[in-house]
Amino acid sequence: TILVLDFGSQYSHLITRRLREINVYAEMLPCTQKIAELPFKPKGVIFSGGPYSVYDEGAPHVDPAVFELNVPILGVCYGLQEIAWLNGRCVGAGEKREYGPASVTVEKGLTNKNALAFFKGMPEVFDVWMSHGDKLHGLPNGYEIVGRTDNSPFAVIAHKTEPILGIQFHPEVTHTPLGKQLIKNFALEICHVNASWSMENFVDKEIDRIRKMIGPNEHVIGAVSGGVDSTVAAKVLKEAIGDRFHAIMVDNGLLRLNEAEEVRQTLGEYLGIKLTVVDASEEFIGKLAGVTDPEKKRKIIGNTFIHVFEREAERIVSETSGKVEYLLQGTLYPDVIESISFKGPSQTIKTHHNVGGLLADMKLKLIEPLRELFKDEVRQLGELLGIEHSLVWRHPFPGPGLGIRVLGEVNKAQLEIARKADHIFISEIRAHGYYEQISQAFAALLPVKAVGVMGDKRTYEQVIALRAITTHDFMTADWFDGFSVAFLKKVSSRICNEVNGVNRVFYDISSKPPATVEME
Ligand code: XMP
Repeated sequence: TILVLDFGSQYSHLITRRLREINVYAEMLPCTQKIAELPFKPKGVIFSGGPYSVYDEGAPHVDPAVFELNVPILGVCYGLQEIAWLNGRCVGAGEKREYGPASVTVEKGLTNKNALAFFKGMPEVFDVWMSHGDKLHGLPNGYEIVGRTDNSPFAVIAHKTEPILGIQFHPEVTHTPLGKQLIKNFALEICHVNASWSMENFVDKEIDRIRKMIGPNEHVIGAVSGGVDSTVAAKVLKEAIGDRFHAIMVDNGLLRLNEAEEVRQTLGEYLGIKLTVVDASEEFIGKLAGVTDPEKKRKIIGNTFIHVFEREAERIVSETSGKVEYLLQGTLYPDVIESISFKGPSQTIKTHHNVGGLLADMKLKLIEPLRELFKDEVRQLGELLGIEHSLVWRHPFPGPGLGIRVLGEVNKAQLEIARKADHIFISEIRAHGYYEQISQAFAALLPVKAVGVMGDKRTYEQVIALRAITTHDFMTADWFDGFSVAFLKKVSSRICNEVNGVNRVFYDISSKPPATVEME
């Protein structure tokens, strides 16, 4: 394992990613981690970049014991300054930030063994991406320059004898085209780790771990939604403990057309998971009556979900004579990173509906088989476990469902309109081959009426907004600009003709920010 110590850069998790892409297992921990308390013994350590200056009051510093681990260390950007700071304070506050492309020239006639290993297979000059404020004004004791740029004479430094290197640029971003090679060289040529991490190994080990963890008479419950994360997590549990895993799908009445039935078929019949579908639609829709405030709607839906799920869980607990000990959660690595990352608290934009606070009273232990995986790795695992392609590549669907896509008050009639319009939009997207070019798409029902004309008669009806976006991480998003005019015409005319109560269709051309993906 390679340990990535996170100093809070927005790119830190990409270092872990790049290592996994070359089949090297890596874990990220906050830079304040006490070395004596490390949960594993790393074969190498990478210090990430970070938004601070080593001069800042309260700037984070590593536990100096990291240098006594006697394993190779690579400092990236802030990580380089940290090495220099701890070894002679030779860092200067930069007068100006350096941000953007640069090219590194490798020193001629290098003899430094670690530097030679680091540059193995690299050209003498290569492009990199810089993003930093401070820079070194001299070399720390025992180090030498092994690469420079026009602006940074200390772009790459290496200890003369120890395997410790520092780089001013970011090798983990795609703007440093050969950055992955450098990370690979550090891991394989300097740390000498095995590149043996693979999804097949991962899943075998994980199933084995779960079997050992869960006693022969113990049971696990978990909520499923039909989305990729909960389905893959459920399938892993099914493989590990069979029918001692109980999946619960809460039909909140805010699902898309035929969705509960499709989950019953896919998870229950096709994947053979023991599944209970609870129809709680009346309960949800009843509680939403008269509520228009988006945050209130989200809270009601979230709380009702917890309530219904707990009720079902209690039923299963009594049916299994109290043998349920665990709750399955589809936590992914980005959620884990979010909670361990070295960052201040960020502001809540929307209350996301999740199952974090579930079942506190029942004292269930958590089981999180996906907590080491990124989203695309979950998809890869899903395919490996035989989950159908269309489910594995499904767009995300929010927990509050159509409840936040019917803007304003939610009731059965409004849900019906949104559901039909959405079905037409998504079916046409699939039929025209756009589905996999888009990250997420849906139809929303706006809380306004507009005048129209149909068969010589004046109409006064509702408005559907279509939204389709592309994004890498859902933190920012662009509206999808690839629809043909013929496609838009067809969707618009189908919605106006087939969905009663709608006479206009709009296409949302707002990016995030300033908009968000969902409209509430
Ligand atoms: P926003 O609207 O915040 O959406 O830009 C970003 C992504 O998150 C999804 N989303 C949710 N997912 N529960 C979820 O499970 C929620 O309450 C929720 N709200 C938004 C949204 O669909 C998009 O993919």
